[in-house]
Amino acid sequence: MLAQAIRDEIRPDYTMDQPVERYTAADHAVWRQLFERQAETLKGRACDEFLAGLAGLGVAKDGIPRFERLTEALMKATGWQIVAVPGLVPDEVFFAHLAARRFPVTWWIRKPEQMDYLQEPDVFHDIYGHVPLLMNPIFGDYMQAYGAGGLKALKLGVLNYLARLYWYTVEFGLIRTPKGLRIYGSGIVSSKTESIYCLESPAPNRIGFDLLRIMHTGYRLDTFQKSYFVIDGFEQLFEATRPDFTPYYETLRALPQIPSGDILLTDRVIHRGSREGWDPRPDA
Ligand code: PHE
Ligand code: FE
Repeated sequence: MLAQAIRDEIRPDYTMDQPVERYTAADHAVWRQLFERQAETLKGRACDEFLAGLAGLGVAKDGIPRFERLTEALMKATGWQIVAVPGLVPDEVFFAHLAARRFPVTWWIRKPEQMDYLQEPDVFHDIYGHVPLLMNPIFGDYMQAYGAGGLKALKLGVLNYLARLYWYTVEFGLIRTPKGLRIYGSGIVSSKTESIYCLESPAPNRIGFDLLRIMHTGYRLDTFQKSYFVIDGFEQLFEATRPDFTPYYETLRALPQIPSGDILLTDRVIHRGSREGWDPRPDA
């Protein structure tokens, strides 16, 4: 009954009104706990652009924020909007939203027993992880371009390549700064354990960003990454992805997938992983 009622409110583009009245006190408490924990963990670990975006959003730590309020701040800064969705949406829908500078955010929050890990994105991952960098003009433009590129990749049947780029930048990217390596990937900033692991563990590789290399590298789905790719700045990301990818896809079709833990002779290695404790299962 409840599931039916929820489904009825979903529009054809998968958006819905954020059902703020459905949040319980326990839901807001989960948000607060995750927020406070990450505020501590990300000091000296997240990049300045992320921290500035978070501060600029005034994302209340008091509870799950109202998306309308966030959209107001985003609109002023970069023209992005937040739209509520019931969960993961089809690729085409997702890309069309990004291309129109709308970021789909899952409205519900994880349960208290899922504080440390959750397989799907929830409101904490989507807001805390993704939205702060949408306050950054260059990163905002990158996300919009990615959406347009996603629609094209879908038509060409090459989404597998482009998806890896999203994974190794938007979700799990690291950035080199004068103060040292810092985190910008959403999958990392919304996870306490991976925030520490990606920078401080000797186990994973840390390799300089290389667009084509990344687009044929496998990845880990439900465990820590074996390799992280490091950009020198958001301009580098934007410039490297500006060309038309159509000829790149032709090249990539001829290349085998690189296992996620491998290091190539052509890699700019920042740290060669010790491989300690690496998950033995095959890549996703
Ligand atoms: N320039 C890419 C293309 O032509 C689109 C893109 C932009 C992809 C930014 C990823 C990130 O397909
Ligand atoms: Fe995400």
